[in-house]
Amino acid sequence: MAQTEVQTAEGEAEAQARTQEVFRFYELAKKREWQVRDMPWGEIPPIPESTGPKEKQARRRGVWRSVITQQLQADSLAVEMAAQLLELARHHEAKLYYSTMAQDEARHVEAWLRLAEAAGGTSERDPYLDQLAQIFLGLDELEEKVFLMQVFFEKMIIPRFRLIARGSRGTLLEDLCNRLTVDDGIHHGAGMAYERVLLSAADKKTKDKMISGAKKMLPIFANHVLWRPKEREFIGSAMRQRDLARVRREIEEGVRIAASLGLDVSDIEFTIP
Ligand SMILES: [Fe+2]
Ligand SMILES: [Fe+2]
Repeated sequence: MAQTEVQTAEGEAEAQARTQEVFRFYELAKKREWQVRDMPWGEIPPIPESTGPKEKQARRRGVWRSVITQQLQADSLAVEMAAQLLELARHHEAKLYYSTMAQDEARHVEAWLRLAEAAGGTSERDPYLDQLAQIFLGLDELEEKVFLMQVFFEKMIIPRFRLIARGSRGTLLEDLCNRLTVDDGIHHGAGMAYERVLLSAADKKTKDKMISGAKKMLPIFANHVLWRPKEREFIGSAMRQRDLARVRREIEEGVRIAASLGLDVSDIEFTIP
């Protein structure tokens, strides 16, 4: 074989291996699929029960309801994003994978809706999540959507689930957060795998657009994480300092992950409020 033919064959084998990796996530998603009825409804309390004066109890309930509302809002956005990704994906393996992700996100919404009802209803919407939704849904390139949604957002949301689970032991809320930690781990992994496929053929213009999208999104993501509805306004400044440090670490990790995809993200600047 001539040198160039060998190179082409090698390139094709590599490309095939990359797409096969996306298919592996499809199989993994099918294996880990669960149903809302698998959750221990009626057996354990929906959210932590508190003791003490009525007023304090009501305030604690308000905090948990706002946590649930925020996650319900995030997963409703995820349903729309997953549907767009399913439609836009250019590879058979990726379409198969996104068909499972669309089901996952819809199931997450179903679980949050039932949990919200069990916890006494929803509360105020997070305006920053609405801004993020507008950005995500309005992106026109598949590469950017996978990058911002799966590479960044779904990775950075996992520590939130762990935090919520830690604070709500023995409840349906903890059960759901543990399930979402696994699911979003798969969503992020699949996004990384598909982004590798897409980047192998992406031009500089597309890559530049991805970086500028991340620059726009990250400060809003930070605002989303730091946002407090009135139910949680009483949370003190010590807590806010901790939250700030945490969100900085998470963003730094996101930037490292982007760099691992071969993207030059050294000039991503973010202003944290
Ligand atoms: Fe989700
Ligand atoms: Fe997800």
